[in-house]
Amino acid sequence: MIRRYVFGNMIETEAVLNKPEKSEGPLPYLEVREEKKSFLYRMDPEERIYGLGENVRGINKRGWIYESKCSDDPEHREDKHALYGAHNFFVADGKEPFGVFIDYPGILTFDVGYEKSDELRITASDWNLEVYIITGENVKDIVKQFRRLIGRSYIPPLWAFGYGQSRWGYKSADDVREVARKHRELGIGLDSIYLDIDYMERFKDFTVNEETFPDFPDFVKEMEEEHIHLVPIIDAGVKKEEGYPVYEEGMEKGYFCKKEDGTEFVAAVWPGKALFPDMLNEEARQWFGNWYRFLLDQGIEGFWNDMNEPSIFYTEDRLSDVMEKIKEYQGKNLDLNTFFEFQGLVTGLSNNTKDYKYFYHEKDGEKIRHDRVHNLFGFAMTRAAGEAFERLEPEKRILMFSRSSYIGMHRYGGIWQGDNMSWWSHLLLNIRMMPSLNMCGFLYTGADLGGFGADTTEDLLLRWLAFGIFTPLMRNHSAMGTRRQEVYQFDRIEGFRHIIGLRYRLIPYLYSEYMKAAVRDEMMFRPLAFDYPEDRYVLDVEDQLLLGEEIMLAPVYEQNARGRYVYLPEAMKMVRFCQDGTQKEEILAAGHHYVEIPLTEVVFFIRPGRLVPLAGPAVCTQEIDFENLTYISYVEKGEALYEYYRDDGYEKDYDNPDHITVIRVQK
Ligand code: GLC
Repeated sequence: MIRRYVFGNMIETEAVLNKPEKSEGPLPYLEVREEKKSFLYRMDPEERIYGLGENVRGINKRGWIYESKCSDDPEHREDKHALYGAHNFFVADGKEPFGVFIDYPGILTFDVGYEKSDELRITASDWNLEVYIITGENVKDIVKQFRRLIGRSYIPPLWAFGYGQSRWGYKSADDVREVARKHRELGIGLDSIYLDIDYMERFKDFTVNEETFPDFPDFVKEMEEEHIHLVPIIDAGVKKEEGYPVYEEGMEKGYFCKKEDGTEFVAAVWPGKALFPDMLNEEARQWFGNWYRFLLDQGIEGFWNDMNEPSIFYTEDRLSDVMEKIKEYQGKNLDLNTFFEFQGLVTGLSNNTKDYKYFYHEKDGEKIRHDRVHNLFGFAMTRAAGEAFERLEPEKRILMFSRSSYIGMHRYGGIWQGDNMSWWSHLLLNIRMMPSLNMCGFLYTGADLGGFGADTTEDLLLRWLAFGIFTPLMRNHSAMGTRRQEVYQFDRIEGFRHIIGLRYRLIPYLYSEYMKAAVRDEMMFRPLAFDYPEDRYVLDVEDQLLLGEEIMLAPVYEQNARGRYVYLPEAMKMVRFCQDGTQKEEILAAGHHYVEIPLTEVVFFIRPGRLVPLAGPAVCTQEIDFENLTYISYVEKGEALYEYYRDDGYEKDYDNPDHITVIRVQK
């Protein structure tokens, strides 16, 4: 059951499309502390809190403060409180499980037992919000009801399940050709190459640098002949430059965000001085969305939306404040505190909260200061694109994922998990974030495999890919200036080919699982605790995941580890994919096991009575033979089965019952 409670007068977010009638009477579970703009819930010692989507730390969120404040922060460390998304949904799993969604576009904090270990305190920056309380049989049922409430998750085209190679720093079409050539020559699977800001003309959205990427439509076609899709980035900030049509048009129509005095708000981002289209204004959103046509018309079929928290490097106003301050310090003997203050001045220029109070949106005829709706910007940008795709290419599935998001955006696109680092701890964070994101509707997701910032190592990339082959978005992406990270930069080519090759063999299964999760509002990745609630041990297992109803994953995420301890809540069949192409199967009893997993092998576990379909080898999705599948099964009581979803990967009749067949293996 879902109940909706209204406090004040919320600025509409459109996270929920069909709102249930408003409920009267006291809020169940949560104590209302209006004077503190907060809600309080007392947790049992054993109670677990799941959800909050994209954030730091574990699957069980207890013991920390999380903030819903879309932030461009590349340091995804444990001491942080917010990442790029604002996902205000959690489930309290205690004696009587219930879910809470706080629909609120401003800044919200969730103190989950940080100040006081038994108190969960939710505090909003103002008192205009709606609270949904969801009760159900168990956590999975509550999540499903929530997902139904917020609407069906975005569905990408089949090719978006292939492997993608990306790097900030492919400066020309020839750089991109080289990436394509290397993968094809070495027989390493590849479906897409991402174009970072380097493809643009001086970082201007909806332009292509004609010197470095000449005859772009021909280039797109040339890559397409290789079955490689080019996926360009689009940034939130539009360069301020006379004669640049996006800027000129936006100015003429008044579509950019403005300051109190009615003049345009200018912030510095990649292109230098830039303006933010008012994505919350319906007309401006349509206008910005229509600009994607510039690339669609040149054969592009997928995009990633970036810098849409929105990210601000600095503004003139903040810069002059800082300059003034620095002048004050000149020639003075700085004591320790003043020195630290001085040091913080320059770093504090970026994404300064003061700047978010300086500009306004025109939403449904109302002028709203940005900080009150901060968390809707990335959502609205991706919505601009998603709505435009529906208008411009209604028959087609277009790939779209964003960096920033709010619940509701999951209907228009996926997300990638932002600027992580080539750290082992970030591989673990990637694993842990998958179920939390699925709970909030984000199914098409994955992290920058190998790590975005800092230098990767061959073993980290191998281990990360061995997990990444299971995530819907499987993309290797790295930052300019870091060690090159395409798999062919390393020695163990055979190993990489094998791991990525396995992704292609798994696509019929992964795609089917994705589609079922999307059309049924279910989670593709779950913590073990969701499926084995009676097993007390699994409550602590945060480094193994269930994938669909069939697979359990236990990735290796530590350097120099030869393998790992795995906990099996029931007997399962361990399947080992060796580099030489052989496949080994062994039934392991329930309990603890140490499993050796060499660097270039992939191991997963199949649950009893289940089977997983596998395709033959392919180096792109186009080549996958969906008609001739083999099955790996764990037959129990004479049978193993699988409910297989199959469509052509491009049509949109998702609910056609003919897409489902049951595959049965009997012995
Ligand atoms: C941002 C993005 C990153 C991209 C870079 C340059 O940091 O998150 O993925 O490579 O900008 O565009």
